[in-house]
Amino acid sequence: MPLHDLEKTLAARVSGFEEAAILRMSRKARKLRAQGVDIVSMTIGEPDFDTPEHIRKAACAAMDEGWTHYAPIPGQVELRAALARKLGAENGLSYTADEIVVTNGAKQAITNAIFSLVEDGDEVILLAPFWVAYEGVIRMAGGTPVVLSSSFESNYKVSATQIAAAMSERTKLVIINSPSNPSGIVLSATDLRALANVIRAHPRAMVLSDEIYEYIVFDGHKAGSIGALPGMKPRTVTVNGFSKGFAMTGWRLGYAAAPPALARAMAKMQGAFTAGANAFVQRAAIAALEGPRDAVAAMREAYEARRKLMMTWLTAIPGLRVHAPQGAFYVFPDVSAALAAARRRGIAHDDTGLCDWLLERHHVATVPGSAFGTPGAIRLSFAASTEELKKGLERFATGLEELQG
Ligand SMILES: Cc1ncc(COP(=O)(O)O)c(C=O)c1O
Repeated sequence: MPLHDLEKTLAARVSGFEEAAILRMSRKARKLRAQGVDIVSMTIGEPDFDTPEHIRKAACAAMDEGWTHYAPIPGQVELRAALARKLGAENGLSYTADEIVVTNGAKQAITNAIFSLVEDGDEVILLAPFWVAYEGVIRMAGGTPVVLSSSFESNYKVSATQIAAAMSERTKLVIINSPSNPSGIVLSATDLRALANVIRAHPRAMVLSDEIYEYIVFDGHKAGSIGALPGMKPRTVTVNGFSKGFAMTGWRLGYAAAPPALARAMAKMQGAFTAGANAFVQRAAIAALEGPRDAVAAMREAYEARRKLMMTWLTAIPGLRVHAPQGAFYVFPDVSAALAAARRRGIAHDDTGLCDWLLERHHVATVPGSAFGTPGAIRLSFAASTEELKKGLERFATGLEELQG
């Protein structure tokens, strides 16, 4: 018998899942490149640096030493112990190895946490602008994302009062991400305390704190951990990983630290889905955590210099409003003036159309703010070389000036 229409046979949880705008833009940029067009991509969410040498060497040595077999599902105990030491020393968090689950990237840590906590009818609060991947995973788990918006004027921060007003007995989880992708905001100690007060007032609510950009901070900002605040450890799952700070995106290594019952649930899920992270990569991660940090510091300094370059160009564009990012490697300018001009001239009617036009006419790829729940802004990544950034900024500025000229 012939197979029934495969599209209709797919589970609703995947067929209802939309391609992320970031992937769509990257795909369009790749297609134009394949046609020979010189495209500058400012969409990239990964360090352009190679993984530091001592970490690469540790992975090779681990393979030679025979670390090529399955690892324990929640991760090697030596790595979990090293992570417990790191969380204590750097984040003021007190976890035992048993409360830590090593994952295939922070993405899997987030998926494990959401799937372990959220079910049909549960609400998860997202603070826009938010990293787009959270939303799809919440929906796949049967949850309902409740998106709270912010504005350029509020520095793209959602207030604790807004969060308190949106919470109910249906709220299972609040997701925070500081430093933020895409806004670059770092939540202050006061912000975290106010948020902790809101969470503590709800018996069922937990918080997922995505701290993946913690090492990429500027102007003396320090990203705090909400789980370290009084009474918050049992209410928090702290997610982090090696992708950004250690330039290890392709290694796929992350982790979650959580109260024991949740850590056990996450390990159980992981046992069913992936059986955990790669064994020799886990050995290399110990070297990353416990070896020299010069390369991490040097990368941070390079991002800081690039941020300066971005701000010099962006603040000179008429009508563009932009905050200097406090962390991560993205700038998130408000482009509403350019968008109004684009609408008047029939060039684009929303930020997605504006990004498409910038790509097709000026050959610079960017990501629309609507991809992060915040239409009217655009995300520009500065995880690229200075030459590439200058080229991209020039095209971006020329495009916006052409629109408004
Ligand atoms: C906010 C945020 N969290 C998590 C991740 C995923 O990191 P990983 O590569 O460890 O899965 C990303 C990657 O872009 C991110 O921007």
